[in-house]
Amino acid sequence: MKNQLNRRDFIKTVAATGVGLVIGDDLLAALNHDVHSGPFRFGVAGAPMEKVRIGYVGVGGMGTAHVENLLKIEGAEIVAVCDIVESRVKRAQDMVEKAGFKRPDGYSKNDFDWQHVCERPDIDLVYSATPWQWHVPVSLAAMRSGKHAVTEVPAALTLDECWELVEAAEETGKYCIMMENCNYDKVEMMILNMVKKGMFGELLHAECGYLHDLRAVKYDMEGEGVWRRDFSMHRNGDLYPTHGLGPIMQCMDINRGNYFDYLVSFGTKTRGLHEYAVNRFGAGAPEAGEKFTLSDIVTTVIRTMNGETIVVTHDTSSPRPYSRDIMVQGTHGLVRKYPEPKIYIEGVSQTDDKWEPINEYLKKYQHPVWVELEGASAGAGHGGMDFIEDYRLINALLKGETPDMDVYDAVAMSVVTPLSELSIAREGKPVKFPDFTRGMWKKPRELPVMRV
Ligand SMILES: NC(=O)c1ccc[n+]([C@@H]2O[C@H](COP(=O)([O-])OP(=O)(O)OC[C@H]3O[C@@H](n4cnc5c(N)ncnc54)[C@H](O)[C@@H]3O)[C@@H](O)[C@H]2O)c1
Repeated sequence: MKNQLNRRDFIKTVAATGVGLVIGDDLLAALNHDVHSGPFRFGVAGAPMEKVRIGYVGVGGMGTAHVENLLKIEGAEIVAVCDIVESRVKRAQDMVEKAGFKRPDGYSKNDFDWQHVCERPDIDLVYSATPWQWHVPVSLAAMRSGKHAVTEVPAALTLDECWELVEAAEETGKYCIMMENCNYDKVEMMILNMVKKGMFGELLHAECGYLHDLRAVKYDMEGEGVWRRDFSMHRNGDLYPTHGLGPIMQCMDINRGNYFDYLVSFGTKTRGLHEYAVNRFGAGAPEAGEKFTLSDIVTTVIRTMNGETIVVTHDTSSPRPYSRDIMVQGTHGLVRKYPEPKIYIEGVSQTDDKWEPINEYLKKYQHPVWVELEGASAGAGHGGMDFIEDYRLINALLKGETPDMDVYDAVAMSVVTPLSELSIAREGKPVKFPDFTRGMWKKPRELPVMRV
């Protein structure tokens, strides 16, 4: 039975049975027995470009930060800007003009005006930083109109959407790139560099996640609160896995000789947002009557094909200091980033069995990308990493090199959301990762960010 089921049958059955509570193991196995047609374009680079003409969709908080970065990157040209809020379009147009470029055309007629951006013949790339529900429609329209698709995180929200992105990228030969800025953080890049130099020996285990008190943000009526709280009312899984998993995935060569095998997820009870609403708005306020589904803390454990384990935490509704929980451990030692970075490597660290600060390691093992771009990235968002990711994207396209992340990387991380939901709904049962690469992950290949 399992080999006859295709992905869409699977999705339909899940929908019909109600979030997988009664899904049999045959159905789960179907995730890994999908048959696809179409040209396979694993790691294929495009031709060099003289300039990269960009249509930008969604110029709220993050989109505006990207526009600001792109204006400083030679070869990037913003041709069109789209947002449903007209004043934000105007703000972005003004920024472009003030930087000395031609004023981009503005689009703000309705929720779907980005379709007109995608259709323009004078655009190479559609870059979106919209609310999550728009990422896939915009990316698909971009690729199907012959443009590269670049999206903020996460790339997709459901298993079906992940496959749609893969299929569209393969059919059109266009890139579908998810902008995971945390891959470019200074400490994470140092860790990656050390892993690739074998400093931790063979990798065994990692921890990561997104642990960020977003209670106030989820009730903010200007920015993300407009759309983000809603996801806490309808979903229960790790809703934001990519900030933690991105850097770990690179350390573990996922899609480059290694792959995620299966995961199990557990969720706590749901308390934080309701308690916050009662305290902030009062027990009788409409906000206090809202019902939430998202567990306050979601813990996922992934086992990789090469035998490593990864603990991924999602925690956005509790009072707590910010963390991405980054920890990487191998047969020779380990490094932990939060709360303060510290490291221990057997035979290298000053004292046996004792942590030491990473300062000296940062001098010695600074990733070459940071050596090159630290000055240029100074003052940019999130400690400079946002500029570095935009710079690397534009420069890869200009040179005709494969960008740092491809569609397979984007969906391998994003699919943790629906898979974790499935596991939680099934009381922690293991869920296999679908193989979006159809076996190509087994082939070691270059990690572009190590190509410097
Ligand atoms: N990588 C990071 O560090 C980071 C940080 C913040 C946000 N993000 C991601 O960036 C994205 C945007 O987040 P944000 O904080 O900028 O949110 P935001 O609400 O500030 O911005 C979203 C913008 O999209 C616009 N928009 C909504 N629907 C639209 C549509 N149909 N067409 C065109 N525009 C539309 C909104 O009007 C708004 O201006 C999200 O996916 C989020 O997860 C990433």
